[in-house]
Formats: sequence, C-alpha cells, structure tokens
Amino acid sequence: SAAEKGGWSSFMAKEINEEPEAVLNTTLGRVHEGVVDIDELAGLDELFARIDRIVVVASGTAAYAGQVGKYAVERWARVPVEVQLSHEFRYSDPIITPETLVVSISQSGETMDTLLAVKYAAEHGAKTLSICNTQGATIPRESDAVVYTHAGPEVAVASTKAFVAQITALYLFGLHLARVRGTLDADAIAAQTEELLAVPAKIRQILETETAEVARLAHWMADSRAILFLGRHVGYPIALEGALKLKELAYIHAEGFAAGELKHGPIALIEPGQPVFVVVPSPRGSETMHSKVVSNIQEIRARGARVIAIAETGDVAVLPFADEVIRIPLAAPFFEPLLAVIPLQVFAMELSSAKGLDVDQPRNLAKSVTVE
Ligand code: G6P
Repeated sequence: SAAEKGGWSSFMAKEINEEPEAVLNTTLGRVHEGVVDIDELAGLDELFARIDRIVVVASGTAAYAGQVGKYAVERWARVPVEVQLSHEFRYSDPIITPETLVVSISQSGETMDTLLAVKYAAEHGAKTLSICNTQGATIPRESDAVVYTHAGPEVAVASTKAFVAQITALYLFGLHLARVRGTLDADAIAAQTEELLAVPAKIRQILETETAEVARLAHWMADSRAILFLGRHVGYPIALEGALKLKELAYIHAEGFAAGELKHGPIALIEPGQPVFVVVPSPRGSETMHSKVVSNIQEIRARGARVIAIAETGDVAVLPFADEVIRIPLAAPFFEPLLAVIPLQVFAMELSSAKGLDVDQPRNLAKSVTVE
C-alpha cells in the first residue's frame, strides 16, 4: 500500500532513501571510540588468530558485496579471501581445512544455494560465519556465528540498502579481525572507522544532489539496447552490480567489466552512441589507477562511446572526455563503492519506471530463491 511505502513511489525508492540509516544502524554498538568490537564475535579470537583462508559464499547482489569486501579484509587482516558463488562452491570440491572460515552473505538468510554451501562447509570441517539481514533466518541458525546487518526489512526484489549494509558488516568484520590478529594498529583502525562513520552523510548528499540528474540520464537512455559498466579494483564489483541492477529492473542487456580488461576484448563492443558508465577511482587513492581509468575513458570516447563518469568531486581530469559526470563526495578508496553504487541503483530504478515497468516486482525474479 501507499502507506507502507512511506510516501515513496515504490519500495525500492523508499529503500534507497534508507541507505544512510542501513549503514549507520549496522555500525551501532560495534564501534567504540575508534575500536571495532562486534559482540556476536566474542569468544572467537582463537579461531580468528589461526584461520589461514576465508571463503565468501553468496549469490546475486550479496556476492558482489563479498567481492567489494575482499579487498579491504585482505588488506587489513592479511588473510586471503576468495569469493565463490554459493551454487558453484560445493560442486567444485573446495579445499576446506579447520583453518578455513566460510563467510556467507545473504539478505534473506533463506537462499537455498547459500544454505547448502554453508552446510557443506560445516560438514567438511570449516567454521561458518553468516552475514544476514533477517533475525533468526535459517542460514544464521545453521552457522557457528552471525553478524547481522541492520538495514531493516527489504521488500523490493532488487537489493539496495541490504547491499551497503553487507559491505559495512564486512568492513566491521575486517577491522575486528585486524585487531584480533594484530595486523593493524589502533590508529589505523580508528582512521578506517572514521571513514566508515562518515559514509551515511555522504550517501545522503548524493541522494540530494545527483538524483535528478541521474533520472534525466535514465530517460534519455530508456531505448538503449545495451549499456556497459566499467570499474577497477573496488570499482569493478560496483560495475558488475550496476549492470545486474539494470538487467533485473529494466530488462536491458548490461555488462560490467574490469576497466583493465577493456583492451582484451570488450572494447570491440564500442560503437558510436554506446552508453558506458565508468566508475572512476579517486586520484588521491592511487594516481596510477586513476590515470589508467581516465585513459580507458579516452579510448572508448575516441570510438564514439557516450561516457557517463562517476567521479569524486573536484576530479577535473575526467571533464574533457566524459559526456556526463555524476559526482560523489571524497572518501578513502575502500569507501568509494558505498557511494558509487548509489547513482547506479537510482539509474536502474529510474530507467525501469521510464519504461513503465514494475520497479518492485521485476518479471521472473523472486526476492528470495528457496529452491536450488
Ligand atoms: C535473489 C534476489 C537478489 C539477491 C539474491 C540473493 O536472486 O532477486 O536480489 O541478491 O537472491 O539473496 P540473499 O537473500 O541471499 O541475499
């Protein structure tokens, strides 16, 4: 009903607007003056100190959250992290030892593919941790430990606020792990928590300043046959997620690519007028990565692509080559994905409604897939 949507045109619009709170609420009670301490993980220090590998299992948007989280968890806690689609995991004869921690990510906590991956991991001697948005769901009940995301109930089939909450939970987990393992000092942990706590206000700012522009872009692109997304490092899974959202909601062929892979194939797809979204990493994070992505933009622009850059405020290097620039506030590199995904979610939603489609209930999809 209209009341349930709180005055928004769709649950998805409402849930996108709730993203600042989804991040904030997931941090509540877990950050104390720059120290990350997750109550649900008390008693696991001995396990965390000895694990030598983390395998993330998830499907759909949750798997992309895992791919984003991998970079920071590896950097902070110095444990190799592998991300596996849950339905591939148990058919691949995975290497599991008592030093393997399997982290499942699921909004619903009921996805059958992910549940079966967790059960398989436990049966083969791994410890299992669930990152879940639904209290008391099956996956957390089947796991050794759970870190709940506090995004609140998500109704729209396409996941939005749960995704940012999942990345937030992974980052908190990574910082908790780094403290226990002694791989980051207290100042470094405090600096990262400060960045994380600044994210909600930055998401709010994007929603306030960029939404109208993104809606305009969605309207002129409503007849596109295909839309491409490029990103690098943490921006790569964001490109994949941007493409997934568009397939799910607007039924447009969309693909995400690692920007560096362009020259190894995807550049052949570029023809005049082809819309390409490019997630541009901050030049303050890595000058090299930034200039490589700017070169990618030049290369596709020279072949006629219509480039929509998502770049931090003040990044003028993109201006000569991008047709459109969507601005995100300054953030440390690991935190850019939590910002860059917002306009891509809004874009898919606006394009869906521009085509007159049902934003909350796309055809052929279910919110939670409880069959294998
Ligand atoms: C379904 C939904 C997706 C979701 C995926 C995983 O396919 O349509 O939006 O990302 O399931 O769901 P989960 O509840 O496990 O996060």
